[in-house]
Amino acid sequence: MDLPVTTRPVRPDDAPLFCRLWDRLSPETVYRRFHAPLRSPPADARRLVEVDHVLREALVAVVGGEVVGVARYDRSPADPTTADVAVVVEDAWQGVGVGRQLLAELTDLAGRRGVRTLSADVQADNDRVVALVRRLLPGAALTPAHGVYAVRSPLPGPAAAAAA
Ligand SMILES: CC(C)(COP(=O)(O)OP(=O)(O)OC[C@H]1O[C@@H](n2cnc3c(N)ncnc32)[C@H](O)[C@@H]1OP(=O)(O)O)[C@@H](O)C(=O)NCCC(=O)NCCS
Repeated sequence: MDLPVTTRPVRPDDAPLFCRLWDRLSPETVYRRFHAPLRSPPADARRLVEVDHVLREALVAVVGGEVVGVARYDRSPADPTTADVAVVVEDAWQGVGVGRQLLAELTDLAGRRGVRTLSADVQADNDRVVALVRRLLPGAALTPAHGVYAVRSPLPGPAAAAAA
């Protein structure tokens, strides 16, 4: 991808950038990400920028000082080898590879930290994210239920990934 996009882990002082990102998301993008027609950021918005970088991680894509995309994982406290993943890219930057880059970096990081299974819920008609899942996680199982795919994918450990 030859774009002026850089990626880095999220920081607590990204909160104002997240507010501005929220204002640039279309209702459809919000609905696709949160599975609900939210009109304002989630009540626990601080949680989005405050992560421990071990059990919870988020990577941001930055263009010109503004956050244009976020990919995050939340590991299960009961089973830290499993992590739930979510991603969003603002409308103006969709379709040019930002989501793929964020998810590729996030899954690599998760695998190196010991995550062995990724899970996500994606709307079954969300062609873009389904394409992303199929490409980045070829071993993923997509189980349909009520218009949503429950995605579960094995994640190879660093040794297996290096040997592949
Ligand atoms: C899903 C999302 C994160 C993808 O990010 P993106 O930056 O737009 O995606 P990319 O440009 O990296 O493209 C991802 C794949 O979708 C494909 N794609 C792009 N536009 C597409 C379209 N209109 N229809 C189908 N596939 C499309 C690309 O070809 C690419 O596949 P490839 O890797 O095989 O080439 C982004 O569209 C988004 O934020 N959507 C709303 C929120 C959401 O749906 N989140 C997922 C649920 S948590």
